[in-house]
Amino acid sequence: MRPMKLGGEYIIFGENALEYLTQLEGDKKRALIVLGGSSVQKSGYLTKIENYLTSADFTIDYFTGVEPDPSFNTVQKGAQKMVEFGPDWIIAVGGGSVMDAAKAMWIYYEHPQLKTLEEISPPNKIPALRKKAKMACIPTTSGTGSEVSRSVVITDTETHIKHGIGDMEMMPDIAILEPGITASVPPKFTAATGMDVLTHALEALVSKRANIVADTMAERAAIDVFTYLPAAYKEGNDLVAREKLLLASCLAGMAFTNVSLGIVHSIAHAVGGKFGVPHGLANAIILPYVIEFNSQDEKAAEIYRQFAEKVGHEDLAQAVRDLNEMLEIPAHLKAEIEKDEEFEAAIPELAELASKDGCTKTNPVIPDVDGFKELIATIYYGTKIGVQL
Ligand SMILES: [Fe+2]
Repeated sequence: MRPMKLGGEYIIFGENALEYLTQLEGDKKRALIVLGGSSVQKSGYLTKIENYLTSADFTIDYFTGVEPDPSFNTVQKGAQKMVEFGPDWIIAVGGGSVMDAAKAMWIYYEHPQLKTLEEISPPNKIPALRKKAKMACIPTTSGTGSEVSRSVVITDTETHIKHGIGDMEMMPDIAILEPGITASVPPKFTAATGMDVLTHALEALVSKRANIVADTMAERAAIDVFTYLPAAYKEGNDLVAREKLLLASCLAGMAFTNVSLGIVHSIAHAVGGKFGVPHGLANAIILPYVIEFNSQDEKAAEIYRQFAEKVGHEDLAQAVRDLNEMLEIPAHLKAEIEKDEEFEAAIPELAELASKDGCTKTNPVIPDVDGFKELIATIYYGTKIGVQL
């Protein structure tokens, strides 16, 4: 078994968790806040964060505008900003994209001699961090669990290929989970990010590296998604549901960062990179098909069956389809992409990318490239049987 790591130094959660910022220590007390859009500002939480940091004598600067599916170009700009400002704390406030981008910027800030994405991609190792700065993550969505993960996904600016990079060195030092900060996430994003959590949990449960500690966290996270995601989708201000989902996101993150994922993510990375389908939404659509595909493995089928029982269903794939329907998520990729010819032409490349994706090797059943082609076509058209290509 690989050693488990369940977060950085501290995880703080619950109402007023943000107050922990007043306890951050540092020689220089310079904090660079990394942000995406303006929603944290509008909700008033950015002011709270600034007030806590200034009351602890921090000087603050900002890197804003991290886009969804962050590009390497953004990472380079952020790293440059860090080199100029010289923070001893990097504070990422946002969803998975912001946290992932900030973690990647951190590497290039600590090691400015590194210039390319390839230099930090496998088989290359991430060099030691924390000589210049530590990192705190404040997730504003319940999705990626990036606040407790060793992983980032960065899109190559030129090829649009998503690079998944994982190394325990990138585990953020502090994770602060403040439920109220997620209340302003619109229903569509709540649904997609929540389904990302469910995908992390269910892929971790059947991973080839699964273990009892990760299973315990993943199972709880998946149960809470089934129980609370519909409520948070319907009523964003339901803070009980928001807190359950934020913790589910964190628990699923702790699980998958240790035992890895599976081919839902491999296919979602490929399709998301080429056709711009948001990560959580792609996962939500792909998940029931992969549950059916993986069920040819008896052990995986049994895990799915036992889990389905815990959420009051007989068939887990159908339970996920029902949940998707409740969240107004389409049943196949065609509904999102609507470019049949272009998609069919891209299937061989998508299958190659998915086959090589780092998440594939821990899936309970590993398809060959032709198997991926068939599966991807099935997910696109929403058919039960493979489409002849
Ligand atoms: Fe994910």
